[in-house]
Amino acid sequence: MPKEPPVAVVRLENRPYGGYHNPHRADDDGFITSVGRGTPGGDYLRHYWHPFLLVSELKDLPIPVRLLGEDLVVFRDGSGRYGLLHRQCIHRGASLEYGIVAERGIRCSYHGWHFDVDGKVLDTPGEPPSSTIKEKFFQGAYKVREWQGLLFAYMGPAEDEPEFPIYDSTGYPIDNKVVPYRMNLPCNWVQIVENGCDPIHNAFLHAIVAGQQFSPVFKVLPQLDFPKTALGFLSMATRKVGDYVFIRAGEIGLPNFGQFPNGSNMANRESAAFRPWVTRWAVAVDDHNSFYIGFANVNSYNDPGGVIKPEEFGVDQFNFIGQTGDRPYAERQREPGDYDALVSQGAVANRKVEHLGTTDRGVVLFRRMLANAIREVQDGQKPAVPKLYGSGPVPTYAHELVVKVPPGVLLDDPKALAEFGYNAAQAFISSDHLVGAEREAAVQEKINALVRELTPSSATRTGEVS
Ligand code: FES
Ligand SMILES: [Fe+2]
Repeated sequence: MPKEPPVAVVRLENRPYGGYHNPHRADDDGFITSVGRGTPGGDYLRHYWHPFLLVSELKDLPIPVRLLGEDLVVFRDGSGRYGLLHRQCIHRGASLEYGIVAERGIRCSYHGWHFDVDGKVLDTPGEPPSSTIKEKFFQGAYKVREWQGLLFAYMGPAEDEPEFPIYDSTGYPIDNKVVPYRMNLPCNWVQIVENGCDPIHNAFLHAIVAGQQFSPVFKVLPQLDFPKTALGFLSMATRKVGDYVFIRAGEIGLPNFGQFPNGSNMANRESAAFRPWVTRWAVAVDDHNSFYIGFANVNSYNDPGGVIKPEEFGVDQFNFIGQTGDRPYAERQREPGDYDALVSQGAVANRKVEHLGTTDRGVVLFRRMLANAIREVQDGQKPAVPKLYGSGPVPTYAHELVVKVPPGVLLDDPKALAEFGYNAAQAFISSDHLVGAEREAAVQEKINALVRELTPSSATRTGEVS
């Protein structure tokens, strides 16, 4: 198994008009970005369930899919079971996208070999009755699970299969409609996750530079923090907006799970969201292509006016500007979005020629955690899986808070502001042994206590110093 190569940092020339002297793009070393079977990153990713298709996409015909660099075909057989098989038939390689779906499994159209959803060869009709060829081989097959309108695949060794994680994200105490979507991005999956580890881009790409995409309060530069959670870490931004503190905490769960509040909060009244707007995964199609796949949570918090329509989401559809590449090129240049920023980093962003700053701490943290996890798998360990697998929903941590600052408290000091955001995040992290409304009540109580701690004593407020 190849080991992680030493990191070669390439420095740009520190001189004006120095283009000639600057290095050409050296290739990324692929340690964290390669997804194929037998690569360090690919073997690591094969220890997790990955969503790859909307249930609504699958009708009566098989669909060819490419996932983790493997060409596959997915179908639902006549008895309602999902099959995810290697696309090329093991007989002589015809594609099973032209297979005929059967009551049980699928039959290759070329010579009629018939495969069950687990890859078992049920029939080889051209062979003599005495033939034992069907007992000797299996078509490559992977397990499929359905959850929240998405199909998930497990593509690792059967003996390492983790329990399927049921996240608590959809467990709202209010009506919640789960609306799945899937977007194709022609770039490596790691840079998609890194976008979520980079909350400062919300100020620039989504408010200050490219256009007013998020609400105007995102123009306020935030304090950033990246507190660890059981899944990974929070990617959080804390802002002082007038009399309010506005905390927006997305979350990153290794390897490719993320949840985020939306960008519409005006931070002009108190509010609290204990659940995310979107739950999504950055799934590798191959080294150079990915899906952003997941679901939006449409409910009275995220959509108080009831204006969001489910049909605004789907395949290459998401109701926020700049998430796909199908806008006219000039429009994308005038007001680029996430898609344009991420894809323009290159099919595989070259991390050797970057110049990272203090606001890139989340990106650095993710890369370090990912590389460590890959090394652990190389060393024969199983990667960590979220706690509470199998014994209840997996607690998640994304949140959004707007808190009114008590009169007499300034919180304009960046350190004090950052500390308030960090402490609020700890309210979520430290209550992850509780579930549902109980957890929300505990978090709210801790937030209230934090605000009370901020409140100056009556003596100080009135100037009566004893
Ligand atoms: S190639 Fe599939 S049965 Fe021959
Ligand atoms: Fe973004």
